[in-house]
Amino acid sequence: MNRDQALTIVKKQLGEGPRYQHTLRVTECAIKLAEKYGADIEQTELAAIFHDYAKLMPIDELKRRIELTNEDSRLLVYPPELWHGPVAARIICEQFGIANPDVIAAIRYHTTGRAGMSLLEKVIYLADYIEPGRSFPGIEETRELAEISLDQAVLKALSNTILFLLKKNASIFPDTFEAYNSLIIKGGKRF
Ligand SMILES: [Fe+2]
Ligand SMILES: [Fe+2]
Repeated sequence: MNRDQALTIVKKQLGEGPRYQHTLRVTECAIKLAEKYGADIEQTELAAIFHDYAKLMPIDELKRRIELTNEDSRLLVYPPELWHGPVAARIICEQFGIANPDVIAAIRYHTTGRAGMSLLEKVIYLADYIEPGRSFPGIEETRELAEISLDQAVLKALSNTILFLLKKNASIFPDTFEAYNSLIIKGGKRF
C-alpha cells in the first residue's frame, strides 16, 4: 500500500479535522526521526498514517473489539485512551492486509509503549508525543533530546507520561512502566 492509498483510507475514517491533521504532523515528524535514526521510511510512513485509525471509534465499539479478539484483556481495566492502538493494529492487519509485524507493533504499542521497543516502535511513539501541534510541560526538553538520542527522548516521554498520570492519581498500564524500566536498564542505570 502506498502513501496516497493509506491517507485516503485514514481520511475516510477520521475526516479532515484535527485528528487527521495530527496524523499528518506525526507522519512528517516520524519520517524525520526515521531518516535520522535509520528506520525504514516506507514502514514508518505506513505506521504513522494508520496509528490513530481507531481514535474516533466509540468506546463501546473499541471495548467490543477487544473483548471479541484475543487482545490483552488487562487493557479493559485501564483508561479507554489506550484502546485505540491495539484495535487499529488488528484492523490494518485484517482489513487492509498490512502484514509487516513491526508496523503492526508500532501501531499497537503507540498508546502504552512496552519493554524492548523496536526502532520503529520508538520512532512512532516519540513522533506522536513531540509532533509540532503538541504543547505541554516538558515537551521542549523531549524535542531537544530527540535531536541527540532516540532512547533518551523516548525515556523522557515515558517518564513525563508516568509523572503526569501519577500526579492525577490515574492508573498506569504495566507496559508503560516496563518500557520505562527497559530503557533505564539499557542505559546502565539500575539504582
Ligand atoms: Fe493515538
Ligand atoms: Fe496520535
